[in-house]
Amino acid sequence: MRDDREVTAPAILFLCLGNICRSPLAEGAARAAFADAGIAATLDSAGTGDWHVGRPPDPRALAEARRRGVDISDLRARQLAPGDFTRFDLILAADAENLRAARALAPADATARLMLMLDLVPGRAGDSVTDPYYGADDGFAETWGDVSAVAAALVADATGSSG
Ligand code: 4NP
Repeated sequence: MRDDREVTAPAILFLCLGNICRSPLAEGAARAAFADAGIAATLDSAGTGDWHVGRPPDPRALAEARRRGVDISDLRARQLAPGDFTRFDLILAADAENLRAARALAPADATARLMLMLDLVPGRAGDSVTDPYYGADDGFAETWGDVSAVAAALVADATGSSG
């Protein structure tokens, strides 16, 4: 058992396909949740694909985050890299396809735990975060609901609370 009350700053990478919709929203929700809780954390996001590298989040994702009071306009898409598997404690994939792609890229010395984002949310294990890219704009609100539940679960875990 830990006998100090210091919370170790976790290093968490959020992963999706393009790094312009789901994972930047997850990073934004987590940044807000960790800041609200006063916990330092290393948070980042990446995509398994390279189509959108260097681009800001999708305008619909920017708008959804802004509606929730979170500014993600500084984020730029990047592709998952082998070094991420040792830089981060936890790599959280939006869906099973992202998880498979990440496992295929993991180097032999990988130390990061790899799981689905929603595995952290009670009752949602195995679920995918809704991919809003090809859908209607209201898909982004649903995605925000999912990723903010993930962010709350991460903060609860980091503070050792069961909530
Ligand atoms: P994301 O959404 O993986 O949540 O960023 C997508 C972004 C781009 C594409 C698909 C999904 N795409 O096919 O370009």
